[in-house]
Amino acid sequence: MYQRLFLCARLLLFFTGEHAAHGKQRQVLAFAGGDVILPCNFRISDSTDFPTVEWSKEGLNPDVVFLYRDGCETYEIKNPIFDYRTSLIMKELKDGNISLRISNVKMSDAGKYKCLKLWKNAPREVTVVELVVGAVSEPKLSVVSVERCGVTVQCEVNFWPTEPQVTFLDHQGNDIPAQGSERDRDASGRFIIKQRVTLQEGNSSITCRVHQPEINQTRETKILISATCSSDICTAAFAAGGLASVLFSAILALLIYKEHNK
Ligand SMILES: *[C@@H]1O[C@H](CO)[C@@H](O)[C@H](O)[C@H]1NC(C)=O
Ligand SMILES: *[C@@H]1O[C@H](CO)[C@@H](O)[C@H](O)[C@H]1NC(C)=O
Ligand SMILES: *[C@@H]1O[C@H](CO)[C@@H](O)[C@H](O)[C@H]1NC(C)=O
Repeated sequence: MYQRLFLCARLLLFFTGEHAAHGKQRQVLAFAGGDVILPCNFRISDSTDFPTVEWSKEGLNPDVVFLYRDGCETYEIKNPIFDYRTSLIMKELKDGNISLRISNVKMSDAGKYKCLKLWKNAPREVTVVELVVGAVSEPKLSVVSVERCGVTVQCEVNFWPTEPQVTFLDHQGNDIPAQGSERDRDASGRFIIKQRVTLQEGNSSITCRVHQPEINQTRETKILISATCSSDICTAAFAAGGLASVLFSAILALLIYKEHNK
C-alpha cells in the first residue's frame, strides 16, 4: 500500500482563487484517470503534537476518505470508494503538509473535500478544497462532404473545462491546418469543438489528434481516404452535388472505404 505513495504521478494543481468560506477554500483541477493532490497544511512547532487528520467528502456516506490517527492510517470508517486510492505523502508530514493524494481520479470524485485537523487541546481547524474533474473525449472523425475529389472531414471533441489542442495530420504525419472551427456547449455544460479540413488528392488517410497539455495525454482517430481521383466515387459524388446529408456522407464514407480496400 505505502509504495503507492511514492509512485511518480502525473498531477496537476490548478489554484483558481481562495474564498473566505470555512477558512481557506481552494479549487484543484484533475483529469479523469490521472492523480491529484488536494493541498492542506498546518503550522508545525515543537509544542504541538501531530494532529488527527480527517479528510472527508461532502455528500458522501460514510464521508471519510482518509483518516490518519496516532501515526497511521485508520481504515475502519473509510468509504470503500476510496480504498487504495487515497494517501498522505509520508515524506511531507514532518513539515505539516497533510495534502491528500487521490489516484486514478474518477468523474464522480468531483466535489468539496474537507481537511480536518484535530488536536487534543487546541481548536479544530478546517480547510476546504474543491476538486474539479476535467475530461476530454476521443476525437470523432467523420466525412461531411465529397466534392470534386476534395473530401471534407470533421473532427469533433468534447471537453471540460480546459480546451485541448486539436490537430489534423496527413498520412505522413504532417500538420494540415484546419479550415473551419466551431465551438459550442452541450446540454450537460461540456464544450464541443468541431474542426474541418478539405483534403485534396494525394491524401490516403487523415488523423485527428487531441492533446491535453495539462496531463500530457494524446489521443488519435484515423480514417482512410481513397487515393485516386479517377474512380467512380468522385463522379458519383459530383453528380449528387452538395447533397451532404448525414446518410449521404455515410454512404460515401463506405464507398471510400471499399474503394481503398480494392
Ligand atoms: C505538500 O506536498 C506536496 C507533494 O509533495 C507538494 O506538491 C506541495 O507543494 C506541498 N505543499 C507545501 C505547502 O509544501
Ligand atoms: C493532403 O491535403 C492537404 C489539404 O488539401 C494538402 O495540403 C496536402 O498536401 C495533402 N497531402 C498530400 C500528401 O498530398
Ligand atoms: C509527454 O509524453 C511524451 C510521450 O508520451 C513524452 O515523449 C514527452 O516527453 C512528454 N512531455 C512532457 C512535458 O512530459
